[in-house]
Amino acid sequence: MAKDLKNILINRIHDKQLLDYAERYLSENLIDIGCGTKPYKDMLSPFVEEHVGVDHEETFHDKSNVDLFGTAYEIPSDDGHFDSAICTAVLEHLEEPEQALRECHRVLKPGGNAIYSVPFIWHLHEEPRDFYRYTKYGLKYLFEKAGFEVLQITPLSGFWVTFGQLFVYNIYRFHQGPLRYIPLIPALGLVIQGISYLLDRIDKSEPWTWMYMVVARKP
Ligand SMILES: C[S@@+](CC[C@H](N)C(=O)[O-])C[C@H]1O[C@@H](n2cnc3c(N)ncnc32)[C@H](O)[C@@H]1O
Repeated sequence: MAKDLKNILINRIHDKQLLDYAERYLSENLIDIGCGTKPYKDMLSPFVEEHVGVDHEETFHDKSNVDLFGTAYEIPSDDGHFDSAICTAVLEHLEEPEQALRECHRVLKPGGNAIYSVPFIWHLHEEPRDFYRYTKYGLKYLFEKAGFEVLQITPLSGFWVTFGQLFVYNIYRFHQGPLRYIPLIPALGLVIQGISYLLDRIDKSEPWTWMYMVVARKP
């Protein structure tokens, strides 16, 4: 419970943007690349008919929602099979991002859309499979090189939310051992997230975003 409270703000920001883009860009059969626990299954169900999750065998996550075992480089699917794709918080874990984007392009139908969320300022996670961080310019370059038309690249936060969230993650390092029974750090974490949210509304300095959401179309 306390663990979920630690990133409630960024999860809400991410999911709100994903919902907005899902409504506008996703349809019919969807491939979820690097799906993990497939956390967006229910949220996206009004927009798609089928939600197929692909992940690799060595994933750290619970595999019960994985429909296809494969990699982002080799999706077990025919060319042009899917109408839509999502790939959330995965591109930074792929050593060959361009190859993975080409593979997504291959399995999409012409006119199909893909939504990616990709971190720009974030700490190391899922080590050692954590390879890159991306600027909006790097993303545009990579998606276009892989054959996509880029429709949107949206920064999800400014400095305050990014800084506040990293601060909260840092203080949670002390929320262990006997200290984990004291709700001081979760309470402080919630206050910091609230203040960060308000400050970001007043002053959203996008060069400090923690994450971008990209919408790209296969022409
Ligand atoms: C941070 S998790 C994100 C999971 C999920 N997309 C989400 O938003 O909760 C990164 C995911 O990428 C997957 N992944 C890492 N390398 C991969 C690869 N080469 N091919 C497919 N999936 C990969 C991991 O197994 C993990 O499920």
